[in-house]
Amino acid sequence: MNHDGVTIWFTGLSGAGKTTLADLLAPELEARGHRVEKLDGDVIRTHLSKGLGFSKEDRDTNIRRIGWVSAMGTRLGGTMIVSAISPYRDVRREVRAMTAAFFEVYVQCPLDELVRRDPKGLYEKALAGEIANFTGVSDPYEEPEQPEVVVNTAGETPEASLRKILAALERQGYLADSLEPMAPAVTGAAR
Ligand code: ADX
Repeated sequence: MNHDGVTIWFTGLSGAGKTTLADLLAPELEARGHRVEKLDGDVIRTHLSKGLGFSKEDRDTNIRRIGWVSAMGTRLGGTMIVSAISPYRDVRREVRAMTAAFFEVYVQCPLDELVRRDPKGLYEKALAGEIANFTGVSDPYEEPEQPEVVVNTAGETPEASLRKILAALERQGYLADSLEPMAPAVTGAAR
């Protein structure tokens, strides 16, 4: 198995830990020589998907845009780490189909724990009926049927989840062998 590029796609409810795990995973992979880019739903919604809301149509558009970019980066040999709720199975499947190598991580966390954490105060508002179409409260989340790995952030530490993800990546042949960063690309003309 080569290491030409891969999209590592974190899906799960808001606050489940997708971004936290992406932030832990990225340097681990960089240290092994991967060229890593992160695509985070919250960040993407400030530029690439600015103006999109949370209807099914807008979410699907958001996911297709992210998928387009991550598939492109994957083709170029990058390790693309996506964190987005991506609640709909069909569009996740669509993105998987257009990506050369797709590794789906289901970041599971029970709703009561998310409500307890609620760092952005969004669950409280959603439960009070102040946010319409809030995933997990008043909008659906379709669980992945065959993710490459499942982590449960209520029952394990972030480090334990990270180890699980790295082990699954290794089993599937996605980890670069080297623990050293790759040599920098040659930028000048050949002498
Ligand atoms: S996705 O459904 O299109 O994949 P995305 O990951 O980009 O969602 O954005 C989710 C983030 O938007 C959440 O973490 C939360 O901060 C915010 N948000 C605002 N409104 C909603 C909503 N109705 N449902 C889910 N998340 C929301």
